[in-house]
Amino acid sequence: MLDTGLAGRTALITGSAQGLGAALVRACHAEGAQVAALDIDDGANRSLAAEVDPDGERIRTLRVDLRDPDAIAAAYDEVRAWRPVDVLINNAARPLARTLWEITAEEWDEVFAVNLRAVFLLTRAVAADMRDRGYGRIVNVASVAGQTPRPTGAAYGTSKAGLIALTRVFAAELAAHGVTVNAVAPAMIDTPMVRSIGPGALADLTAQVPMGRIATPEEVARVAVFLASRQTFVTGATYDVNGGVLMR
Ligand SMILES: NC(=O)c1ccc[n+]([C@@H]2O[C@H](COP(=O)([O-])OP(=O)(O)OC[C@H]3O[C@@H](n4cnc5c(N)ncnc54)[C@H](O)[C@@H]3O)[C@@H](O)[C@H]2O)c1
Repeated sequence: MLDTGLAGRTALITGSAQGLGAALVRACHAEGAQVAALDIDDGANRSLAAEVDPDGERIRTLRVDLRDPDAIAAAYDEVRAWRPVDVLINNAARPLARTLWEITAEEWDEVFAVNLRAVFLLTRAVAADMRDRGYGRIVNVASVAGQTPRPTGAAYGTSKAGLIALTRVFAAELAAHGVTVNAVAPAMIDTPMVRSIGPGALADLTAQVPMGRIATPEEVARVAVFLASRQTFVTGATYDVNGGVLMR
């Protein structure tokens, strides 16, 4: 059994209210961590926290719109006043499936604001404190969409490819300070994001997975928890959690 060393540590998780984010909250909480749970959907975020941590001692929810740089800064100030952050999991994302002909400039900017700019801003804020304390674990949630091209993936897929590149750059910049930066790259996960594509499209995509099914959020969360654990000598890596959809 992996001793994650997460007990007593604090994890900041974005996009925590549902889907993979909620599984990450549950997994970190189960490991004994405190969790700062950031999401734009305050109602769902609070419900999750009340269910996972009824005493309200180890989960703090914050409503933040990651498109807004000032809101990101204010939220992090609140979190660091609560507890120093040992683990940052950049999980929130804005999905978008549009062809080259359909996508608008506004949609393009919004995808990049959530999927990349917010990661850059939050990582810079959190990593400054991690660097000063000589310890930190940063995990970015990328996607197979950033590793292999797909029609309709211009903005979403490119933002995830950028996130994989950003992971390596920040890993290189922070390696000497005890801070590791890694990514997970899932293919389809059974979350509200995936359910929204409809049963027909879901069945077609599932048929393309060599393992014959899509991932559970818990399966992806387990790999993220490993990357957030204290033993890891892994940095700058992207772990594929994709059922064999892409082997490289
Ligand atoms: N579901 C999949 O099949 C799949 C596959 C590969 C990668 N991923 C990645 O996994 C991560 C989680 O995906 P999911 O399926 O759980 O997504 P989801 O849509 O179910 O949940 C995303 C969460 O992020 C929050 N969020 C979105 N925009 C926000 C904003 N501007 N500010 C604050 N919070 C915001 C949402 O409220 C929601 O709670 C994402 O990075 C996604 O790209 C998902």
